[in-house]
Amino acid sequence: MSTLQRAEASEHAMAQELDRIVVKSAIYVSGEHDPRQPVPRPPDAGRRYMMMGDDPRLPTMPDRPTLFDFFRLRLGPTQHPLQSARLALKNGAGEKVVLACLLHDIAIAGFIRADHGYWGAQLVEPYVDEEVSWAIRHHQALRFFADESVGYQYPEMYVKLFGPDYVPEPYIQEAHRYARNHRWYMTSRLITVNDLYSFDTSIRVELEEFTDVVGRNFKQPKEGLGFDASPSAHMWRTMIWPTKYL
Ligand SMILES: [Fe+2]
Ligand SMILES: [Fe+2]
Repeated sequence: MSTLQRAEASEHAMAQELDRIVVKSAIYVSGEHDPRQPVPRPPDAGRRYMMMGDDPRLPTMPDRPTLFDFFRLRLGPTQHPLQSARLALKNGAGEKVVLACLLHDIAIAGFIRADHGYWGAQLVEPYVDEEVSWAIRHHQALRFFADESVGYQYPEMYVKLFGPDYVPEPYIQEAHRYARNHRWYMTSRLITVNDLYSFDTSIRVELEEFTDVVGRNFKQPKEGLGFDASPSAHMWRTMIWPTKYL
């Protein structure tokens, strides 16, 4: 095939791909839709195929994706976690805290917002020290409670976002009480201390700054994230193919 023929062939393949019906995988749980109601049948269902693989609107992931591939090709804006991790470094935090800061909002950036601390912890659990995933899980609750001993106050931003009368749900209060008395409390608390609510748009932190910290503290599976049959592999796969019909 000539270059032109190849280009034409790939364009044709792309057009066919785009012709597939895209249904957001998370539609049943995202709150955009009453889950008791049947999903409306696309008008051309039966004439077109459903999306079952790579979504041509997204960059293709490598066969064995690494954490950094997800940062580059799948996660939403990453300056917030990168700046938090840099701040932790600057504040003299250890590598576990720096990694926890880098990953603390990974669920929001790639997966789901609600209860993001729990989702994020579960996502990275097979690949990090238990203390790191514990800290990510509990930053979910700790961020709602001040700790004067480290100068952490209830975020101004939350008053704006949730109103002055918002009171965290009982399960969050309970998680806070539990975390407070845990030996890893400070690891999780340091995520909230280094969590920047209004980050500096003039600074650009590059992922490469954390190559060594990640290399030493994140057990990258040789099969790639999503394909190592870990308890969270399916979650990484959902980020690779977020519009897969089944
Ligand atoms: Fe967070
Ligand atoms: Fe955050």
